[in-house]
Amino acid sequence: MTIIDGKQTAQQIRQELTEQVNQLKAEGKKVPHLAAVLVGNDTASETYVRNKVKDCEQVGFNSTLVRLDESISEEELLQEVHKLNDNPDVDGFIVQLPLPNHINDEKITFAIKAEKDVDGFHPINVGRMAKGLPSYVAATPLGIMQLLERYQIETESKHCVVIGRSDIVGTPMSLLMSRKSNPGNSTVTICHSRTKNMAEITREADILIAAIGKAHFVTADMVKEGAVVIDVGINRVNAPERPRGYKLVGDVHFEEVTEKCSYITPVPGGVGPMTRAALLYNAMLAAKKEIYR
Ligand code: GUN
Repeated sequence: MTIIDGKQTAQQIRQELTEQVNQLKAEGKKVPHLAAVLVGNDTASETYVRNKVKDCEQVGFNSTLVRLDESISEEELLQEVHKLNDNPDVDGFIVQLPLPNHINDEKITFAIKAEKDVDGFHPINVGRMAKGLPSYVAATPLGIMQLLERYQIETESKHCVVIGRSDIVGTPMSLLMSRKSNPGNSTVTICHSRTKNMAEITREADILIAAIGKAHFVTADMVKEGAVVIDVGINRVNAPERPRGYKLVGDVHFEEVTEKCSYITPVPGGVGPMTRAALLYNAMLAAKKEIYR
């Protein structure tokens, strides 16, 4: 059984991006510039955005953090998005979600120019991905594809079961795995909250991707001997013995499932770091104008 080291793979990707930045500099070209918009003071969002800025610094990208007050109107936020769309120095940007209740997430996400949508959330990018055209792919599915590729995990003709159908993980993941590509060419089943007899289906999976957001949801009896298990969940559970009183666990019952599978991603240190690296990867594509030529 192999534990897939997302932390180390992400570090490898950051190293490759650093080398590309140095190459761009040597050619007298501009380095990638990623901007992030953060509305309000949500603690989790603050941490995510702070990490994104830190990641940019580490690989030599320029970054801009646009901090806006919780009370900003939807119209004013749209103006900020238009400013970034029109700023030629900014290659790509993200608006951190969730937004305050009085702002419609979709309205904002859809206002981002597809060419700068490094989150891959805009329907043009989602549609292009579904058609197998060059597109920005959302960071978590892209990070998982990178892990499968770099660990040379065979996906062709395998049965891939995805648990969860969210816009940003389950749905794009299922499309990518069924695409005519490598990784890809899998036979894909999506399971979700209305699926009957889920364990019967997951037990058929050669590759099982859990993105349901429930701690320890996938237990050993749901996993086929020798399966590849990708755990997307990051769930807080009480742990009074820890300094913060909680710990992070995945959607997979790691201790049980490691006994059965061939590969598994741990939480933390699996998919999470890859999501961060994948955003940087998209920002480099944006700077090189490699998607929309
Ligand atoms: N909130 C949680 N994850 C994400 C993400 O990947 N992108 C954005 N924009 N907001 C998020």
